Amino acid sequence: MKHDLLGLKDLSAEEIMNILKTAQTMKLIIEQPNKKTPHLQGKTVVNLFYENSTRTRLSFELAAKYMSANAANITASGSSVQKGETLIDTAETINAMGTDILVMRHSMSGAPHIIAPLISASVINAGDGMNEHPTQALLDMLTILEKKGGFKGLKVAIVGDIYHSRVVRSNIYGLTKLGAEVSVGGPSTLMPQGIEQMGVKVFNTVHEAIVDADVVMGLRIQLERQKKGLFPSVREYHRFFGIDEKRLKFAKPDALVMHPGPVNRGVEFSTSVIDGDQSVINEQVTNGVAVRMAVMYMLSRGGFATVEE
Ligand code: CP
Repeated sequence: MKHDLLGLKDLSAEEIMNILKTAQTMKLIIEQPNKKTPHLQGKTVVNLFYENSTRTRLSFELAAKYMSANAANITASGSSVQKGETLIDTAETINAMGTDILVMRHSMSGAPHIIAPLISASVINAGDGMNEHPTQALLDMLTILEKKGGFKGLKVAIVGDIYHSRVVRSNIYGLTKLGAEVSVGGPSTLMPQGIEQMGVKVFNTVHEAIVDADVVMGLRIQLERQKKGLFPSVREYHRFFGIDEKRLKFAKPDALVMHPGPVNRGVEFSTSVIDGDQSVINEQVTNGVAVRMAVMYMLSRGGFATVEE
């Protein structure tokens, strides 16, 4: 039976921890001068991206290549999607070429859930609309685990454009399963109705959300998904909801500053916070490769039930 990674909603705490432990082993490989292992030798990984990406696409490609897989990329803009080919036909075409793992990003929430039952390749959700971005949350959790040693009782504040964020949903599913206390903060126009039902505290100011936080995670303002203005201007957004050094002092002095990227400098965070001592944004990127290696390897070995060495 093939396995997929469509979201963290359906994973247990144990499965999430197994991925993080496997990623810690994978990280040892990417720290070597010779980053090549036979973990996925003979396997084929295809990245199918209908939306732009720097980190996710490149890290999946590097992760596949470090593990000796055949890796290929397709973007919607350079493919037969432009001639009107449907998502299902595109996925079935890629599958018919002997693909073992299909990594896909799509603007429609639920797109990978439609494709996964139709093809023999394992499907990994690399971000679907406003739904989930599971590997981003896993790399965020790996970074928190490394820096804070665990999750139980940890206060994680996620602030910014909560409404449009697939990263926030995956992080809420994952972090609450592992015992963290999650707060979300931002303008009420960027706060989805009923989000408190996911087990989080909700604030309409950023400084209240980050009080005594161990982790402050900023989310990008997704102007490309806004059909109408949900706040007056980015300057005013930064003034009322952005985090500068002064506002960051509401969190614990050793709070981690995190952001999935890409960052709008001077909007979600001031440049001094992005580049400051508390920022682990570049470490998140490094951990993205390790997590994607772990996920692909575990899927090729039967799923997330056991830790892989
Ligand atoms: N965090 C993230 O998904 O970044 P990219 O859009 O660059 O992949």
